[in-house]
Amino acid sequence: MTKIERLGVIGGGQMGGGIAEVSARAGIDVIVCEVNNDAARAGRARLWKSLDRAVQNGKLTEADRDETQSRLHFTTTLADFDDRDMVIEAIAEDEELKVKLFAELDKVLAAPDAILASNTSSIPIAKLASATERPNQVLGVHFFNPVPVLKLVELVPSLLTSAETVERASAFATEQLGKETIRAQDRSGFIVNALLVPYLLSAIRMLEGGFASAEDIDKGMVLGCAHPMGPLRLSDLVGLDTLKAIADSMYAEYAEPTYAAPPLLQRMLDAGLKGKKSGKGFYDYD
Ligand code: CAA
Ligand code: NAD
Repeated sequence: MTKIERLGVIGGGQMGGGIAEVSARAGIDVIVCEVNNDAARAGRARLWKSLDRAVQNGKLTEADRDETQSRLHFTTTLADFDDRDMVIEAIAEDEELKVKLFAELDKVLAAPDAILASNTSSIPIAKLASATERPNQVLGVHFFNPVPVLKLVELVPSLLTSAETVERASAFATEQLGKETIRAQDRSGFIVNALLVPYLLSAIRMLEGGFASAEDIDKGMVLGCAHPMGPLRLSDLVGLDTLKAIADSMYAEYAEPTYAAPPLLQRMLDAGLKGKKSGKGFYDYD
């Protein structure tokens, strides 16, 4: 199985940055593509800060940090991905944007066996694959937030993905990055979000209905069920814009009320509250 030596990551936000970080730390050459120079600079600053934190926590030596940094490159030009063995798309959870991007990316990658992966939380992979001329090489490679901490990667082949593509992506995740994998059918939300998102939405409905305070809802699940964080703080971590987009695509797939975004979630987004990344959501962040 040919190893991934040159990786492209599209989107240097919290997930793209995390995927780039763990890949560069594993010795892979990584280019991150962002929408403009300001976004690329911001993505790079977040990544450098995360690597510095790893040094402070004793998880990385200064020499390893410097080597990792030398393997991380930033661009705003998708054409720079022409020599990549694999590209992982991690832009906003928007089907139209992702479909357009997959069509463009397909024209850029020169290697005949290059893998086109998406970190989408909920958008069916077949829709992205169908925008390309090589749907057999497209699959979902779904990481979890924060990427450097959480061990899981969900692998999601579409009806058109080849077995070889799945095996190569699996070897990349397990042997190169040291992650654990699970495999899911190409249904919106796959395994984890199909279970997690209705729970997060239920917590928002509970708050919206005045049933309990945000603090008590979260404390209930942390102390009563030993979750590392409560559902409202976790929603803030995921990003309320992302959570709403995931709920919408799951609702479009299943048309079941459990996936319907509660009005409070939309109202918070109308007010510019996106959770931790915007400094305010169910909680305030500095
Ligand atoms: N990058 C790197 N390391 C990080 C990190 C980050 N962003 N955030 C925390 N860490 C590390 C810390 O350095 C610390 O490491 P040590 O134990 O070695 O010191 C460790 O993680 C614990 O961190 P903290 O002590 O600061 O905080 P904590 O104990 O409260 O843990 C947490 C923070 C890791 C985020 C933890 O609360 C947690 O795991 N929460 C649940 C996260 C979760 O459920 N994620 C899934 C979201 S859903 C998803 O991802 C799918 C989707 O499609 C939406
Ligand atoms: P984010 O908002 O933190 O980052 C998205 C980044 O993509 C931004 O920096 C933006 O500038 C960039 N971007 C947008 N369009 C682009 C384009 N055409 N080219 C290059 N860059 C572009 O979002 P995120 O939380 O990192 O989520 C990214 C993807 O990962 C989404 O599909 C989301 O569903 C998925 N995901 C999110 C989480 C989570 O907990 N947030 C977990 C797993 C998967």
